[in-house]
Amino acid sequence: MRLELRDQMRKSGYMFFSGYRPNESIVDIAESFGRPLVPWENGLVQTLVPRTEAAPNTYSGTFGLGHFPFHSDLAHWRTPPRYLLLRCITGYMDVPTLMIDGHDLIDTVTIDVLARAIFKPRRPRDGNVSLLRLCESVEDVMRIRWDEVFLKPASRIGEIANLQVREWLSTCTPTARSLAQTHDTLLIDNWRMLHARSAIRVGREDRAIERVYLEALH
Ligand SMILES: [Fe+2]
Repeated sequence: MRLELRDQMRKSGYMFFSGYRPNESIVDIAESFGRPLVPWENGLVQTLVPRTEAAPNTYSGTFGLGHFPFHSDLAHWRTPPRYLLLRCITGYMDVPTLMIDGHDLIDTVTIDVLARAIFKPRRPRDGNVSLLRLCESVEDVMRIRWDEVFLKPASRIGEIANLQVREWLSTCTPTARSLAQTHDTLLIDNWRMLHARSAIRVGREDRAIERVYLEALH
């Protein structure tokens, strides 16, 4: 299982498990896959529900029930979580999670541009502004980050990359996986894949998904 999981993640950047291990919690599953991480106090398990009103500096505050733009999670952190695990509590076939392979982004925009593209968080964290590259070699992989809400270009190449990435995202066809049934589970490589929630249709406002971040797989 562990080898298969690693191989599949290396191959596709994500893995979908239908109606997975119904008697176990997301924490059990996260621990069986790898090392869960707590991104903020009491944040081990986060429950994601659609919101029409939320703080303006959040995705829900900006986009409400609409389609979220493609991003990697916590892209404004120096080291974003390596993996995210999503598990369905209440789901719908017509609210798929959309994914785009960052390797295709590298092929298109080029490693040269992405690695030199400097971005910074739109809001300073704790008074510090960190400069972040869209793409960098970490361990044995290329780590990609992208978030048009929380990051903004901070160099000339950053500006160029910003336009190129947005342009490319607007034309590419994402992979869709629906967390439709309770216990459907999706593991995503957050250093490689960009993801987005599709729009919440009328009658789907009770969608609820749990999320746990992992820093590594076993
Ligand atoms: Fe996300």
